[in-house]
Amino acid sequence: MTAEIFDLIVIGAGPGGYVAAIRASQLGMKVAVVEERATLGGVCTNEGCIPSKALLDSSEYFALSRDRFALHGIVIDPPRLDLSRMLARKDEVVKKNTDGIAFLFKKNGITLVSGRGRLAGKAGDLQQVAVAQEQGSDPIGPKGNEDRGNPEVLRGKRVLLATGSKAVELPFLPFDFDTVVSAREALSFAAVPQHLVVIGAGYIGLELGSIWRRLGAQVTVVEMLAKPLPTMDGQVADALLRLLKKQGMKFLLETGVKSGTVQDGRVLLTVAGVSGEEQLVCDRVLVAVGRKPLIDGLGLAEAGVGLDATGRIIIDENFQTTAVGIHAIGDLVPGPMLAHKASEEGVVFAERLQGGKSRVEYEYLPGVCYTWPEAAAVGKTEEELQQAGADYKTGRFNFLANGRARCMDETDGFVKILADKGNGRILGVHIVGPRASDLIAEAVTAMTFNGTAEDLAMTFHAHPTLSEALKEAALAVNDRAIHA
Ligand code: NAI
Repeated sequence: MTAEIFDLIVIGAGPGGYVAAIRASQLGMKVAVVEERATLGGVCTNEGCIPSKALLDSSEYFALSRDRFALHGIVIDPPRLDLSRMLARKDEVVKKNTDGIAFLFKKNGITLVSGRGRLAGKAGDLQQVAVAQEQGSDPIGPKGNEDRGNPEVLRGKRVLLATGSKAVELPFLPFDFDTVVSAREALSFAAVPQHLVVIGAGYIGLELGSIWRRLGAQVTVVEMLAKPLPTMDGQVADALLRLLKKQGMKFLLETGVKSGTVQDGRVLLTVAGVSGEEQLVCDRVLVAVGRKPLIDGLGLAEAGVGLDATGRIIIDENFQTTAVGIHAIGDLVPGPMLAHKASEEGVVFAERLQGGKSRVEYEYLPGVCYTWPEAAAVGKTEEELQQAGADYKTGRFNFLANGRARCMDETDGFVKILADKGNGRILGVHIVGPRASDLIAEAVTAMTFNGTAEDLAMTFHAHPTLSEALKEAALAVNDRAIHA
């Protein structure tokens, strides 16, 4: 038993947990974080957002040098891929980020406890968290027995659950982590696959499919629904589909996978779509059909932490679960499974714990798919507005008419702004195009401050920049675009 009593014990050091811990510590709380990985940052930093973006950038440079440099008057021999160097650089980028978080923990005086944490009942008013050093050596079993060795049990006033999520497996095609893989393994293939089949045209499927396509793999994406990125605006999804097909990715839409067999490093898949059944043979399959909360072994039921019908932890406005003193954020709780949502929840949780009135502006949560071009969105889609019978106006501006996009030779895509017909308030912004991930930030700010299309239209935008496409789309809401 650790004698120290913490104000807050966080289980999980992903973008939700580590940010919550830092903010709580800034606010004067004594904080412990329990993490079973050797490095901090969770899935996002170690095997998700960060390594995938490192490879997306590297593979994009490779594809540019191969396919587009000549257009800019740069003549080189066909570039040669050094995949092991590319992967090593990705690992270096990850290390810089995980080391950075470790530094921040030290700087903020956060106690890091290595091992797997689980809720372990209460001691008076205090919550207990048992920390097992190795999987299987859980010090406090279901019967609460503390006889196994010398368990580390932390005590604190509050516990924050921030253990994140894990990839969903297809029951008939379980991960073997070699030929049938999740995103984690697909970020470290030692060789470019000959034929990669991606199941699921969501964020992971399109991003990782893009990486290996650019590096030379044949890529086939199998998607159950009629469009990729089902939560994005339909026009954005259509445009992205067209552009990814142009890059050589093959899509089988409205198609489900019926069965799969793995033999000698090859996979035979039977897929069924609108035009009947088809067999696919490939050397790697990436299953990217969603993620589910990582709650196994946390002791939720014993602690009285309730789940909703979808398996997410039920919380109130203070992120408190159905058990007093136990809180949860990020992928464990309802809402999109996005790192920046988890981080924001972590900050707001800590501030509300101190009596603050902050809240998460879920309405203005941006989503980005880091393909090239990128797709980014905030607010309502046109389909959602139509379904709600909303009275809205649309302004659209194509990058084709943007000077900077022409300089870059990146003229694919558009910005679309949806605004209330009555008061002009921006209801949604949808971008497919170069650096959409960065451009969407302006829209998020405008919407968070209740901005109107007119506000955006009247704001200076430096020339020549991609951001002028946003200004022009805002002008187009009132049929005033200059360059359209
Ligand atoms: P997703 O929910 O984004 O997409 C899953 C796709 O798989 C959907 O289009 C769905 O219709 C399809 N699908 C489901 N079952 C299928 C089946 N049996 N056969 C064919 N298609 C099927 O999930 P994804 O891409 O696995 O990502 C997981 C989570 O990680 C998401 O919540 C996402 O928000 C997050 N993420 C976000 C990123 C970003 O913000 N750029 C990057 C990577 C992940």
